[in-house]
Amino acid sequence: MEENNTPAAMQDNQSVEGQDSQEAQPKKKRGGFTSKIGFVLAAAGSAVGLGNIWRFPYLAAKYGGGIFLLTYIILAVTFGFVLMVAEIALGRKTGMSAINAFKKLNKKWAFLGVLCAIIPIIILPYYSVIGGWVGKYFFTYVSGGGMSAAGDSFFNGFISSPWQPLLFFFIFVSVVFVVVLFGVEKGVEKVSKFLMPALVVLTIGVTIYTLTMPGSAEGIKYYLLPDFKKFSVKTVLAALGQLFYSMSLAMGIMITYGSYMKKQDKIESSVHQIEIFDTGIALLSGLMIIPAAYAFSGGNPETLGQGPGLMFVALPKVFANFGSVGGGILGALFFALVLFAALTSAISLMETVVSIVIDKFHLSRKKSSVIVYVGTLLLGIPSSLGFGVWSAVSVGGMTILDMFDFLSNSILMPIAALLTCVFIGYVVGCRNLTDEIELNGPFKFKKFFNVMIKYVCPICIAAILITSILDVFGVFSI
Ligand code: TRP
Repeated sequence: MEENNTPAAMQDNQSVEGQDSQEAQPKKKRGGFTSKIGFVLAAAGSAVGLGNIWRFPYLAAKYGGGIFLLTYIILAVTFGFVLMVAEIALGRKTGMSAINAFKKLNKKWAFLGVLCAIIPIIILPYYSVIGGWVGKYFFTYVSGGGMSAAGDSFFNGFISSPWQPLLFFFIFVSVVFVVVLFGVEKGVEKVSKFLMPALVVLTIGVTIYTLTMPGSAEGIKYYLLPDFKKFSVKTVLAALGQLFYSMSLAMGIMITYGSYMKKQDKIESSVHQIEIFDTGIALLSGLMIIPAAYAFSGGNPETLGQGPGLMFVALPKVFANFGSVGGGILGALFFALVLFAALTSAISLMETVVSIVIDKFHLSRKKSSVIVYVGTLLLGIPSSLGFGVWSAVSVGGMTILDMFDFLSNSILMPIAALLTCVFIGYVVGCRNLTDEIELNGPFKFKKFFNVMIKYVCPICIAAILITSILDVFGVFSI
């Protein structure tokens, strides 16, 4: 694979481009992916992160197990497929990043580029808070405290203390900042090509082990067999938000990736590959964590429904079974790999935000990076404190971190996705995009794509959004 296959290389180009007038920028100045596999790996690298390993399992546990899984898979092969194809095609057609792509096609729709830009600004700070938690666990295992991490009160003790989570959050954001500031993402990306497969192998190993534990069978049942009584609009909204989040959709990032894709590479099959990769890792993580929660806490509804802490509570108990040495090594290795996946995604998120600042305010890369760094620190502090000293701040049982998460994934992303569909279906015209997709061969799902973009996606997303917003305001309960 060549140098400029990495998102880092893309982002560099994007930043340079952002300083000049987009339209005047000659095409040849943009770097690009030199091979289809390079494109698929880079996009999958952005997609695979905490969303798959940390967020998917806790949502699946919270929203009814099998029924969430089923809903998620159905949404992934319909909404997820269509939206990812649309975003990549939009990027490749315009050759621009999100903030400018919408503007180029229709001046009145420039606001959609802005909406897409707000989302990563909200995600990055709280993503980094969780990244800090992973850092803490890594540190605990490395310094020989793995057995204590398996204790019942370890996780809550940690997140509710004021300084420790802040310290690890600060370290995490600082590492991301240094990488972005000194532009060493290429090195990070290279290492991640080895570490990502290692993470998959380790996850498979831990999963197989967990599945042999007494009590895990109940967990497998809960996770794999849908219970239709547990189905509700909330399940769909949660699954939809998770889909956008996990596949890095509805925030313009895939538009940017698409803008660097070569005209002769096939969009449709690339999307299939990215989806299989991303969904595969999410499903596997669920299979590792949910049965573990059953084997060690008997499927206690409190553990299952506990939300963001699930991975941190369930896995140390698995590792503890290997004794303090074996478990210590296993835990250190596992959290190191998760930390790495979190770092690569956070780097890509910070890159996105930095290029937005460069584009909008025409500042230097250095200044923009510093602004984004300080802003991320400030915005992340409430999310971190929300589990301790600020735990009184809560809406509908949500902590501050949950609120940011809900705002971006369950409100803004569905709105951005809905508007993107309307924009493509009724302003640009599906034809424009399907022509782009058909540049190199037939588009198998063309009819499906058209119907989904014009009718099914916007109507369903609007219905889901309206019902759940009414629910939040207590107009009626679903
Ligand atoms: N998909 C990432 C994950 O699963 C999170 C994410 C969402 C992301 N949007 C992004 C990462 C944009 C990088 C860039 O963890």
